[in-house]
Amino acid sequence: MDDTVTSNLPGTRDLLPGEIDRWQLVEDRARRIFSQYGFLEIRTPIIEPTELFARGIGEDTDIVGKEMYTFVDQSNRSITLRPEATASVVRAYIQNTMYRGGGLTKLYYIGPMFRHEKKQKGRWRQFYQIGAEALGSDHPAVDAEMIEMALWLLESLGVKAKLLINSVGCSNCRPPYLERLRSELEQRLPGMCEDCRRRAATNTLRVFDCKVESCQPFIDRLPSITDNLCAECGNHFAGVRRHLEQAGISYEIVPRLVRGLDYYVRTAFEIVSGELGSQNAVAGGGRYNGLSEVLGGPPVQALGFAMGLDRLVMILPEEQRADFKWRPDVFLAYMGEPAFEKAGEIARELRHRGYSCYIDFSEGRLKGQMRLANKLNAEHVLIIGEDELSRGKYTIKRLADSRQWEVTIPELQDYLATLNRSI
Ligand code: HAM
Repeated sequence: MDDTVTSNLPGTRDLLPGEIDRWQLVEDRARRIFSQYGFLEIRTPIIEPTELFARGIGEDTDIVGKEMYTFVDQSNRSITLRPEATASVVRAYIQNTMYRGGGLTKLYYIGPMFRHEKKQKGRWRQFYQIGAEALGSDHPAVDAEMIEMALWLLESLGVKAKLLINSVGCSNCRPPYLERLRSELEQRLPGMCEDCRRRAATNTLRVFDCKVESCQPFIDRLPSITDNLCAECGNHFAGVRRHLEQAGISYEIVPRLVRGLDYYVRTAFEIVSGELGSQNAVAGGGRYNGLSEVLGGPPVQALGFAMGLDRLVMILPEEQRADFKWRPDVFLAYMGEPAFEKAGEIARELRHRGYSCYIDFSEGRLKGQMRLANKLNAEHVLIIGEDELSRGKYTIKRLADSRQWEVTIPELQDYLATLNRSI
C-alpha cells in the first residue's frame, strides 16, 4: 500500500506563486470595476445546509442530483460544500434583512465552488467564481447594466467574448409551454438518447442542453420558450434588448439557452469564448425573481451572474500580467553570528518602514548569498561583516549598476526614502 500523501484530489490543483499574479490581476480588476458599478463585497460560508441548494438550485438539476459534495457532520447535519453562491447570497440577504431599506442591493463575491463533475478541459471540481447579484428590482435596465459590467471586465482584460441571451419565461408562461413541450417530446423520445428521456420526465427544459449529435434534429424542431412568452415576459425581454442596444452591446438570441439551475426566470445569458473548447462559457447568469420565496423569504426580484475565474485566466492574453512582481528592496547579506543577528534587527526596522527585505537563513558563505540576491532580483544588497558591525557602517550595493558605498542605518533609510517606494 502506498503510504505517502503527496498528491491532491482529481479536479483540484495548487495555484503556485508563478501563476498567481494573473489571478490577482483579474481579482483586483473585478473589485475595481464592480465597485465602480456600486457593488459591495459579501463573503458567505463555504459550507451550507444541503437543503439550501436542494431547494434553491432544484432537486432535478445535475448539480443537486449528481455533483454536490455532501457529508453529515458531527451534529448529524447534512452539509454541502457550496456548488455556487447565488443561493447563499439570497439566504444571507434574507437572514440579515438586507431588503429592509428597500431599493437595490448590489453584492459581489470571489471564491471557490465545488462540483463533482467529470474532468474536462476548463472544468474543475474545485473552481473559482467571481459573481455579482443585484437584488430588489425587475427593471430591464438592471439586467442590461449587469451584463455590461461583466462584458466590461472581460474587455478591460483584453478577452474577446460573445454574449448569448434568452428569456426563459416565468411561472405564468412556463407551465403551459412545458406541457406543450412534453407532448411534442413524447412522439420524438423513442429516437432520443437516454439522458433526454430522463430529462423529459424530470427537468424538461434541460433537453435543450443535449449535445448528442443524433438528438439535434429532434431538438431543433421543438417549440422554443422564447416564442411562447407571456406578454409581461415578452415586454421585459424587449426592454433588456433595448437597453443593451442603447449601451452599444451586441448579442445573439439563443432560444435553446436554458441554463442548468432551476431558479431562473426571464433573462438568461451566457458569455462564451471561442478559445475555451467545449466548455466555452466564461460566465453565466440571469434573473431569479422567485428564489427568495422558495427559500422562505419575501418576494425579491433579482438577477446576477458568475464568471469562471479558472477559465478567464486560461484565456487571458499573455501580455496581461500584473505590474507588480515581488523583489526585495534590500537583501541582507551577513558574515558570522553577530552579523546574522544584526541583519535580523535591521530587516525588522526596514520592514516596519515599508521596505521588503530578505535574509538567507542557511548561514552560508557571502558568495552564495550574493548569488541568491541576484536570483531574487534584489534591488540592493546590504553587506554586514564583523568590521562593518564594529564601525556601525555597512556596505550597500545597488545590483543594477554594481555601484557600492558605505552607509549608517539612518543614511540607508534616507537613501531608500529618495527611491519613492510605495509603502
Ligand atoms: P453556472 O453557469 O453554473 O452559474 O456557473 C457560472 C460559471 O462558472 C460558468 O460559466 C463557468 O465559467 C464557471 N464554472 C462552472 N462550473 C465550473 C467548473 N466545474 N470548472 C470551472 N469553471 C466552472 C452559476 O453558478 C450561477 N450561480 C450564476 C448566477 C449568479 N446566476 C445568477 N447569479
